[in-house]
Amino acid sequence: MKVTSNIKSVLGKADKKIYGHFLEHFHRQVYGGVFDPDSKFADNDGFRTDIIEAMKKINVPIIRWPGGCFVSSYHWKNGIGKNRIPEFSKAWRVEEPNLFGTDEYVKLCKKIGCEPYICTNAGTGSPEEMSDWVEYCNLDDKGYWAKNRISNGYAEPHNVKYWSIGNENYGSWEIGAWSSDQWGPIVRESAKMMLKVDSTIELSAAALADPSWNYRLLRDAGKYLRWISIHCYWAENFDGINTLDFSKVVLLSDKSISDPIDKARATLTTLGLDKKIRIAFDEWNLRFWYHPRSLESFYTDKPLTEDDYLSPRDLNDRNQTYTMSDAVFSACFLNTCLKNCDIVGMACFSPIVNTRGAIFTYKDGIVLRPSYYVFDLFSNYMKDNILNSWKWESETLEGEYHGRQITVDAVDAVVSYGDGVFAVSAVNRDENHSHVLELDMTDTPVSLMRIHTLNGQDANSYNDVEKTEVSVKTSEWIHFKKSVTLEPHSVNIIEIK
Ligand code: AHR
Repeated sequence: MKVTSNIKSVLGKADKKIYGHFLEHFHRQVYGGVFDPDSKFADNDGFRTDIIEAMKKINVPIIRWPGGCFVSSYHWKNGIGKNRIPEFSKAWRVEEPNLFGTDEYVKLCKKIGCEPYICTNAGTGSPEEMSDWVEYCNLDDKGYWAKNRISNGYAEPHNVKYWSIGNENYGSWEIGAWSSDQWGPIVRESAKMMLKVDSTIELSAAALADPSWNYRLLRDAGKYLRWISIHCYWAENFDGINTLDFSKVVLLSDKSISDPIDKARATLTTLGLDKKIRIAFDEWNLRFWYHPRSLESFYTDKPLTEDDYLSPRDLNDRNQTYTMSDAVFSACFLNTCLKNCDIVGMACFSPIVNTRGAIFTYKDGIVLRPSYYVFDLFSNYMKDNILNSWKWESETLEGEYHGRQITVDAVDAVVSYGDGVFAVSAVNRDENHSHVLELDMTDTPVSLMRIHTLNGQDANSYNDVEKTEVSVKTSEWIHFKKSVTLEPHSVNIIEIK
């Protein structure tokens, strides 16, 4: 494939928040994940320092918390102060001890050096519970909740800038599933109260690719929003073990990613809001989380035992599930966000720790799964200015998925520029063949290049406690050459200066 771009033809500036992450109170993401006071890696606050270091290495810019479905019956006031009140999580049917609450979350974000981003309970919660949460986090000392924060030992406000109203309240699986006619007024009344507490916060709300849901939301509450949140997972679970093979994953890594963005963009543009409201793709992962008989199928004629719905969640911990499929797909997702950087300003990988996350924890350490290295490459080497690029002579891959014939380019590339360096993310989606990427840098005096390649022996390579099959290899700086050969099933960043 040949690619050309022009330093003067800038598509837009990438917002680093597209390299964001998500942390939910589900399975071992919080307890037994980031928060594990008994771990030998725990600091004085009970946070695993090995995880914090790994997150700092990939420059995590923002973490969305506490859910996800969890949040739609979560009451944040039970998770602050000296006497934490355990609650039963209706979403996941387990006890939430509330030992990790708002103050612990903000402290964790400070240690990582990332922005907090709180998603509120629009299921069993209320506009007042949401605005009290903003009072607790952002007011100096006015009113009961700011004074409560001070009495808990936090004299300074937490200054949480990013807030989302609700999580997937459009879906029947969600506690507090509302109709599109109900949702707009709920968001409007919540937004009014939250902004009356702190008019500097940036609000998002649960949205969809579906124009009708978004139209009503934006009609009723668009004036208060700076973001709309959309979510997508692509590869269905079967029994949590069988996963899609690489050739099928590749077919999902193109239009299936851009389609929800295109639809959300169209509604914003139609309403003239595309310059005021951006898209936060604040839950995404190739793979659905594995939690059978939990959300919609929790209720059956024969009552389910804990064994029916709790123990299968451990299957998310099988590291052999997460292969170069995850790396190639995730790199194509980030490329798609960069190609839409004019309207996609945030994305949160769902989640960052355990479940389907980039980092797996066990007693004696952590495993960095292939998707982790995608964030390592993109967040450390891609530049802010995304250039328009033109490609031709691109080989393609064909296949059938769910009865649809799909064609994708064998190579997916994005050209960025900054600080005198071009950085090209180039993904070879072909499982079996190398492909040559030809970079036409005419009119641009470049002399040196180096290539970072994330790959494994084959498309099913993965990392585990006792095995590292997937890693990044970086070449020396070499004289610039127009043609770069990309290994099969590989993710590459090519630096040129
Ligand atoms: O599977 C996890 C769930 O996916 C999240 O809690 C929710 O937001 C999404 O439906």
